[in-house]
Amino acid sequence: MAFLLVGYAAATIAALFCIYLRRCCTHPIFTEYPFVGMLPQVLCNLWRAHDYSTQVLKQHGGTGEFTGPWFTSMNYMLTCDPFNVHHMLSRNFHNYVKGPEFREIFQAFGDGIFTADAEAWKYDRDLFHSLFKHKSFEVFLEKTIQKKVKNSLLPLLNHHAQGRVVVDLQDVFNRFTFDNICSTVLGRDPECLSIDFPEVAIEKAFNQAEECIFYRHIVPKFVWKMQQWLQIGQEKKMTEACKTLDEFIYSCIASKREDLRRYEENENEETYVDLLTSLMREEEIWGKDCMELKPERWISEKGGNVYVPSYKFIAFNAGPRSCLGKDLSFIQLKMVAAAILRRYHVEVVEGYVATPSLSIVLLMKDGLKVNIRKRKF
Ligand code: HEM
Repeated sequence: MAFLLVGYAAATIAALFCIYLRRCCTHPIFTEYPFVGMLPQVLCNLWRAHDYSTQVLKQHGGTGEFTGPWFTSMNYMLTCDPFNVHHMLSRNFHNYVKGPEFREIFQAFGDGIFTADAEAWKYDRDLFHSLFKHKSFEVFLEKTIQKKVKNSLLPLLNHHAQGRVVVDLQDVFNRFTFDNICSTVLGRDPECLSIDFPEVAIEKAFNQAEECIFYRHIVPKFVWKMQQWLQIGQEKKMTEACKTLDEFIYSCIASKREDLRRYEENENEETYVDLLTSLMREEEIWGKDCMELKPERWISEKGGNVYVPSYKFIAFNAGPRSCLGKDLSFIQLKMVAAAILRRYHVEVVEGYVATPSLSIVLLMKDGLKVNIRKRKF
């Protein structure tokens, strides 16, 4: 009997070992352990996920495979090689759809342009493209930004310049863009940008949803699904965030309907109709100082712009799915930079080191603390 049991145990271990060997990938990026795959190394280094993935990818020539625990479907190909990026986002775009798994992870974004594929995406893309390129939308956007600069940004910076207190410029810009995007897209300003830095539920909910989406990328699907079912941990926060966002958006739609009815009644009134909508740190691309925050790398010796193809700097994505708001973002950036630089000296506090936060949007974990002083004319 004992002999039979030992035999069964040996056969089971041999079978598991064969499955394990068959699962092994050809270009593993970490050591793969039985049962748990490569997950332990990711979890141990989660606190420095961006630096760690950059360093590991560099050691493996820019590309490699990740396999999660064997009872999950966490099998990923990771790359920071610009030629692979170009291949996937541009040259063979149609082979690399986002797919149902992406839609599940990004479910907070609904079924719109960000998660759609194929014909549904093409339809949305054409629609958004025609709206964004419309002259009246650009004019409306510029007016909205000007108003926000004058009524909120400058009073806030004046207040901090007078009080000589340190201000978190990242928080200021986040609030600015959030108010601005809500005004242009939903027609309502949530007024996050204000001297007292109020805690605004929908801004918090939006940031929370982005963090939860990041979390869904690094834990096995059954874990976050279970948390969702039990309504615990990150998934509880995700449900609450989605509820807050839905309530806000539905109330915007309802008031927009009211506005449209009034607009139809007074067609002659002048009205602007608004619209309802690892950065790679590669030494080969950016040079030896690729890990440093150096905005001046975009300025040539003669003072012009340094051009880098979008597949090497994918902040706005590349290929047919590149960001439709890129031009609008640059208009906003220039208007804000001009408004600030001609009025204030801005100095980053001494000893500040920028470290990335864990989210799907690359932000600085501790913000960007600066001192602001008024310029003397
Ligand atoms: C600094 C600001 C911005 C950055 C860094 C940025 C970045 C991106 C990225 C990386 C994508 C690709 C997302 C994906 O495929 O999963 C994207 C798509 C998109 N962005 Fe932006 N974006 C910015 C601002 C804006 C603004 C202000 C708007 C609109 C007013 C906008 C509208 C869009 C749209 C509609 C898409 C979907 C394109 C598609 O899937 O075909 N973006 N953006």
